[in-house]
Amino acid sequence: MKLRILSTGVAVPENTVTNDRLSEMIDTSDEWIATRTGIRSRHVATGENLTELGERASNIALERAGMTPSDIDLVICSTARGDFVFPSFACCISEKLGLTCPAFDVNAACSGFIYALDVADGYISTGKAKNILLVCGEMMSRMVDWTDRSTCVLFGDGAAACVITSGSALKYLRVTADGNTRLLNMPAGSGNSPFAPRVEPGFMHMLGQEVFKFAVSSIVRETEEAFSALSITAEDIDLFLLHQANKRIIDMARSRLSQPEEKFPLNIGSYGNISSVSIPILLDELLTAGKIKKGSRLLLSAFGAGMTTGTCVIVWE
Ligand code: ACO
Repeated sequence: MKLRILSTGVAVPENTVTNDRLSEMIDTSDEWIATRTGIRSRHVATGENLTELGERASNIALERAGMTPSDIDLVICSTARGDFVFPSFACCISEKLGLTCPAFDVNAACSGFIYALDVADGYISTGKAKNILLVCGEMMSRMVDWTDRSTCVLFGDGAAACVITSGSALKYLRVTADGNTRLLNMPAGSGNSPFAPRVEPGFMHMLGQEVFKFAVSSIVRETEEAFSALSITAEDIDLFLLHQANKRIIDMARSRLSQPEEKFPLNIGSYGNISSVSIPILLDELLTAGKIKKGSRLLLSAFGAGMTTGTCVIVWE
């Protein structure tokens, strides 16, 4: 493994939607949402599109890396749904930044950031790329049914970018997919072919309690797998950056790992679940606040539709 994250950048829509605002639209309450999930508000796009958010996040990350777009030789994006079915979100970012290097998307739902890191590491390790722009972007507000209180209260929109280059920060990375599409999915729809039965494009469908159980058990299993591969224990990790889907999932995983609360930073309260964006936003916040320094030992772990998981250990350089 030959990768290090040089810089990060974040862009979220200006508009925020509080739990109280949602309770004016659907039968819910701030008390229910906050107690069951830890979420208080989320950013929901009104005018912005995903490409604009991704471009803003990329420019911040490039500036912090002391680079210009011409230094980048590969663009990898993670999204479940870009502004277009094609071209890819990555090609839309390239167009905005004036890039002509290879560009493509990865879709592993909420585990997308770790999957994209894995792909990036492959390119860097084989010498096929030197400086990679990795952009995660999700418009969850386009995917939820805004009349379904069991899903629409959970998600938010945003983008986060990283500049990745060669280094030795990445110590371990493992991704999995168990071929179970039943717990969490969204039908794409069939278009209007006169030769095939019509399938309407749907909204997100989620079996919440089953996802909850999968989340807790996969985070604990994959974390212990990482510890065993590296011959370390939970005490050797300074910060656990877990996918921000539900505070109760994080609390339960933390208590199974017998670790203190301060090692599990949270930002779900003000963003909700932004799928593959949630971990890189958290990373950006911790870096900006000076809570991650050279030598900080981080464990990142995500789960998502598929059902996918991604877990990695980074010693910050
Ligand atoms: N407001 C008020 N009541 C609600 C709401 C709401 N927003 N949503 C559901 N309820 C009600 C239900 O109708 C139910 O009522 P009933 O008892 O009268 O039938 C009651 O609350 C309890 O519902 P549950 O579904 O049992 O609630 P639970 O405690 O399981 O919490 C939740 C639901 C928050 C969705 C939880 O199951 C969860 O977080 N699951 C994991 C979700 C997740 O991690 N998703 C990640 C997606 S990752 C990706 O790839 C996109």
